[in-house]
Amino acid sequence: MRILVTGGCGYIGSHTAVELLNAGYEVVIVDNFYNSQPNVVDKIKTITQKDFAFYEEDCCDEKAMRKIFSEQKIDAVIHFAGYKAVGESVEKPLAYYRNNIDSTLVLLSVMKEFGCRKFVFSSSATVYGDPASLPIKEDFPLSTTNPYGTTKLFIERILTDIAYAEKDLSVALLRYFNPIGAHESALLGESPNDIPNNLMPYIMKVATKQLPILNIFGDDYDTPDGTGVRDYIHVVDLALGHIKALEKLEHETGVLIYNLGTGKGYSVLDLVKTCERVNHVEVPYQIVGRRPGDIAACYADPTKAKEELGWTAEKGIEEMCRDSYNFVIKNI
Ligand code: WQD
Repeated sequence: MRILVTGGCGYIGSHTAVELLNAGYEVVIVDNFYNSQPNVVDKIKTITQKDFAFYEEDCCDEKAMRKIFSEQKIDAVIHFAGYKAVGESVEKPLAYYRNNIDSTLVLLSVMKEFGCRKFVFSSSATVYGDPASLPIKEDFPLSTTNPYGTTKLFIERILTDIAYAEKDLSVALLRYFNPIGAHESALLGESPNDIPNNLMPYIMKVATKQLPILNIFGDDYDTPDGTGVRDYIHVVDLALGHIKALEKLEHETGVLIYNLGTGKGYSVLDLVKTCERVNHVEVPYQIVGRRPGDIAACYADPTKAKEELGWTAEKGIEEMCRDSYNFVIKNI
């Protein structure tokens, strides 16, 4: 099977491309390097010792997408490409709605024209908003508090409506919790170009003395130590969840929804202390005010993915912290 991986040079996309190639799939990557680096193409080839087709294109460009589908027999699409910064989405909602929704609509139109009927979508636990209880199940109410999360919610709805009308379309909505970690080779990892929005890349910048101190956004939440609790999942476990979803779509049509999380919640301070301990580093921090839009706690009930996909996250928090640091220290 040949899989089109949009955003395949990005953090999650590149790790998924590696696992697809390792599993024997043929891969075509399209990426416009908006939030990724060109050298990731060669890094994927180095890790897997396998070749694949690459296109530097924007998924919103219908002419470019038709060219790819006319040159490559695409059996399924995994759609990672999209803007993903919560704070930026509040400042630039029009750009987020145009890019994230237009790219999806273009892909779905071209897929229909070329008879490609399997679509895996990179969704997010952010569609659950602030859950009334924990752990979170896939049938929980959906609500969002920022344009980034709302694009994910809207795209889930668009895919549901289209799958209802096109009975031969198979869709998997994968709701990621908090991906962290890096490939064991230290060739792939999360490397934001500017000041990181997310916790782990920020911790790594402080641990490697690229930034002076970590600001912890509030320690007055209703959590064990007062800091925010999240379900951190190793990016390789997340990538492997996509392989399982593709296998499931071989035999199913309609819309399948899965939480991809570990089911365990760790606080900000848990992550800081674990990073310090396993990597023998110091992460100085200070408590500051809460970040607008943050919720106290969020972690998955991953039962459905285990029962229906045969997928469970295997890597623990220490391995996530070790792999993150190993990548950053070797790529400064
Ligand atoms: C985690 C915890 C912060 C930074 C978001 C999106 C989600 C996905 C991942 C894209 C919270 C605290 C953070 C810092 C801190 N995005 N924190 N100091 O907000 O759970 O999820 O990013 O794929 O869809 O919603 O992740 O890493 O930003 O925050 O104290 O400098 O760390 O308050 O409790 P979040 P995060």
